[in-house]
Amino acid sequence: MNHKLIIANWKLNPMTVREAVRLARAEDRKGVIVAPPFPFLDALGTALKRAQLGAQDVFFEAKGAYTGGVAPAMLASLGVRYVIIGHSERRALGETDAIVGKKVKAALAEGLTPVICVGEPWSVRKRRLAAAKRFVSKQLSSALKGVRARNVIIAYEPVWAIGSGKADEPAEAAAMARFIKKFLAPHTHRLTPRVLYGGSVTPHNAAAFLRESSIDGALVGGASLRPRDFMKIITAAHVPHR
Ligand code: PGA
Repeated sequence: MNHKLIIANWKLNPMTVREAVRLARAEDRKGVIVAPPFPFLDALGTALKRAQLGAQDVFFEAKGAYTGGVAPAMLASLGVRYVIIGHSERRALGETDAIVGKKVKAALAEGLTPVICVGEPWSVRKRRLAAAKRFVSKQLSSALKGVRARNVIIAYEPVWAIGSGKADEPAEAAAMARFIKKFLAPHTHRLTPRVLYGGSVTPHNAAAFLRESSIDGALVGGASLRPRDFMKIITAAHVPHR
């Protein structure tokens, strides 16, 4: 049996809790993590029987006067086990490496597993993979400053591949995944963290990524809103069906 992990990142979708529950039931398989918007976490905690619950973000403070904030303990109390941190769509809105680092610490302190998103823009990648590796290593260093990296998951998501329909080459993504594992080795006490690929994963290209031994799963955005496509991606990951 294969243990590849598939995360459904629904982003700002769907619009109602009814639709969210319906979509979640269609994606409720072992080896899947469903990450809905915050308001649907509670309902999905009840609806999901096999998949696990993830959140798309978290605030770094534990409590207090932070209007709009969602603390790690609140997520944990709803049964959330994983939290996406530092997605490029949040970084584009002003989230810095320092903020990502604080969120990672806060999530770990509450026993949540951070899914830390890293990835370079096209302006960097066009100078080849070596430049992208330097960019990603800087993101990793600040995200993991002062923490033990063994309890985290890394999602390598080249910014230019997200939502663009233009996925990375599986071989290049696999090389980056190997680089990330090697880079983190000194921090992980031999327990290598899982590295996922994300960015325009579809039923057509999923198998090519997931067959790479260094790639431990996929972070799926757009296709996770289409249950048929998502099921095909799960099949490609050899996640057992019910
Ligand atoms: P995408 O999004 O699959 O729509 O490219 C991936 C992500 O943003 O995590």
